[in-house]
Amino acid sequence: MRVRIAPSILSADFSCLDREIKRVEEAGADLLHIDIMDGHFVPNITIGPVVVKYIRRVTRLPLDVHLMIENPGDFVDSFVEAGSDMITMHIETISPSKFKAQSSKLKKKGVKPGISLNPATALEKIKPVLNWVDLVLVMSVNPGFSGQAFIPGSLTKIKKLRSMFKGDISVDGGVNDKFCADIINAGANILAAGSFIFGAKDARQAIERIRNAA
Ligand code: DX5
Ligand code: ZN
Repeated sequence: MRVRIAPSILSADFSCLDREIKRVEEAGADLLHIDIMDGHFVPNITIGPVVVKYIRRVTRLPLDVHLMIENPGDFVDSFVEAGSDMITMHIETISPSKFKAQSSKLKKKGVKPGISLNPATALEKIKPVLNWVDLVLVMSVNPGFSGQAFIPGSLTKIKKLRSMFKGDISVDGGVNDKFCADIINAGANILAAGSFIFGAKDARQAIERIRNAA
C-alpha cells in the first residue's frame, strides 16, 4: 500500500493557516489532518465546522477530519457540509449501532467513515464496526495535544489490526522519523504528523523522511 502523509494542522500557526496549509501542500502532503476537540472528550478545544469550511476553500488536499468530541453524531452533518472527505469518530464516544447508521449516511454522501481508538482501548472494541469503516485511526498518544511522545505499544496494536483489516490504517500522535519505519512495517499506510512536519524548517524534507522510512 502506498504510504500517505497527513500533516496535522494542530501544530500549524493559526494566524496564517492558509499559508501553513499551502506550505505542506507544496511540500507533498497527501491529506490534511484536522483535529476537532470539544473540551469534554479531550482536555483541549480547537475548531469547528466553520473553520473547516474555509479550509476547504484554500486547498485541494482531501480533508481528514478527526472528531475528538462527545456525541459526534450530532455534528457529522455539519462537517460533511463543510467539505470533509473523511470523518473519523472515536469508539469511546459512540455505540456500534449508532456508528453503523452514521457510516452508511457518510458513504451515501461520498465521505469516508473512520473509527479511532485511544491507546487504552482494546482492539476488540472496534471489531463490531470494522466492516463499516474505510479507515481505522490508531491513536499513538492520548488525544488532546500535539508534541507528545509516541507510545511504542501502539505497534503491536497496528500489527494485530492489519491481520484483520484490509482498509486504511492511520497512526496519529508522536509520529516522527524515528518511529515511522516501525509504524509502516507494522502495517499502517497513513501517517498523521503535527509537530514533526509543521515544526520543521523544511516541510518537504520532513515529509520525505517519513515517507521513505520503510
Ligand atoms: C492529538 C491529535 C494529533 C496531533 C498530532 O490529539 O489527534 O493529530 O495533532 O501531533 P503530533 O504529531 O505533534 O503528535
Ligand atoms: Zn488527530
